[in-house]
Amino acid sequence: MSYQVIARKYRPRKFADITAQEHTTLTIQNSLRLGRVGHGYIFSGLRGVGKTTAARVFAKAVNCSRMIEDPVYLKEVTEPCGECESCRDFEAGTSLNISEFDAASNNSVDDIRLLRENVRYGPQKGRYRVYIIDEVHMLSTAAFNAFLKTLEEPPAHAIFIFATTELHKIPATIASRCQRFNFKRIPLDDIEKQLRNICGAEDLDVESDALQLIGRKAQGSMRDAQSILDQVIAFAVERDDDRSIHYDKVAELLNYIDDDQFFEVTDAVADDNPKKMFDVARFVIDNGYDEQDFLEKLIEHLRNFLVVYNLRSTRLIERPEPVKERYQREAARFTPSIIMQMIDLLLQAQKELKFQFEYQFRFELVLLKLIGIVHPSGSATNAGRAGEDTEKKKPVVQS
Ligand SMILES: Nc1ncnc2c1ncn2[C@@H]1O[C@H](COP(=O)(O)OP(=O)(O)OP(=O)(O)O)[C@@H](O)[C@H]1O
Ligand SMILES: [Mg+2]
Ligand SMILES: [Zn+2]
Repeated sequence: MSYQVIARKYRPRKFADITAQEHTTLTIQNSLRLGRVGHGYIFSGLRGVGKTTAARVFAKAVNCSRMIEDPVYLKEVTEPCGECESCRDFEAGTSLNISEFDAASNNSVDDIRLLRENVRYGPQKGRYRVYIIDEVHMLSTAAFNAFLKTLEEPPAHAIFIFATTELHKIPATIASRCQRFNFKRIPLDDIEKQLRNICGAEDLDVESDALQLIGRKAQGSMRDAQSILDQVIAFAVERDDDRSIHYDKVAELLNYIDDDQFFEVTDAVADDNPKKMFDVARFVIDNGYDEQDFLEKLIEHLRNFLVVYNLRSTRLIERPEPVKERYQREAARFTPSIIMQMIDLLLQAQKELKFQFEYQFRFELVLLKLIGIVHPSGSATNAGRAGEDTEKKKPVVQS
């Protein structure tokens, strides 16, 4: 049997399996129940959150014989049955009632004309022909205009689903003729749950911390999470009789900088300890981590303190419990205004570093400057004395 990547193997086949997009799936199911299916839809949102998947399930549902013929099933289940001839054609990828059109590579007026020609013909079997137009924001203005008329007076059998990661690039003339659904970034918990199910089905024994690492790296995209999992399996599973995946392996593969390093930075600031700061900078540079990426994560680290400070809760922090507790314990060391100043400095540095050549040297300086925010006359900024006072522990003054 040929190997199928996880993202395809576990693509949801019905509405209920599409995670975290209930606002969309429930609304669509409702319109199916009421027999009020529209002709134009826009599915927008981040990459890999279920737009194409939902469009395919929708296309399958409007053509499912059971849904069409059995009113009780339609009302109570409202899912493609997966068993009728139409559903089977869809699942085998042989249905003629769905056309996927990639606007990124077919974006000329001629391409649209061809599509328009095609739209005139109704389905031979089933009820609707569904046209999924992916990356629709890539269409030229002329191509959009060529499409308008079709969208204004669509044949009764046609449903258009425009998918895009960039909603703002779709002309208002098109958008106002469609029902719009915004697909959300998938919460870490949901990604982890899905990964856990897949690992179960694949007979993999993965440490919970490791799953969370994968989930975080995916930044809200289920497809990314699944592709990373593919990569992790290839990297970490060496023998078929030991299908376990440990945190360390995943951290190594993802070139993951442990949370400890970021706490070292805030410790160095709180303790006015430039030596510690130099050590962190060295660690990042020597291990070949990307400095920009480090600054990005450091900003997130500081943001986590702000979360604790302002919400008095770690609910919005995506980390394992012990790390959350550490945020809780250490937040009171800095005032929110000091944290904001540190964040500002880092944001500024991110911009500036892009254009620098003495990259690593600048990177060290940026980290040292953080200490200066809290200790304006402390060791880091006191020329000649840097390093001397490294053992000194000063409390941070709260203002
Ligand atoms: N909400 C979701 N629930 C479950 N699985 C999902 C979800 N979103 C994405 N996936 C998984 O990710 C894969 C890719 O999803 P899909 O093709 O629907 O993404 P997309 O939003 O169309 O992305 P793109 O903008 O890159 O086209 C699916 O095959 C599925 O395995
Ligand atoms: Mg897609
Ligand atoms: Zn069916």
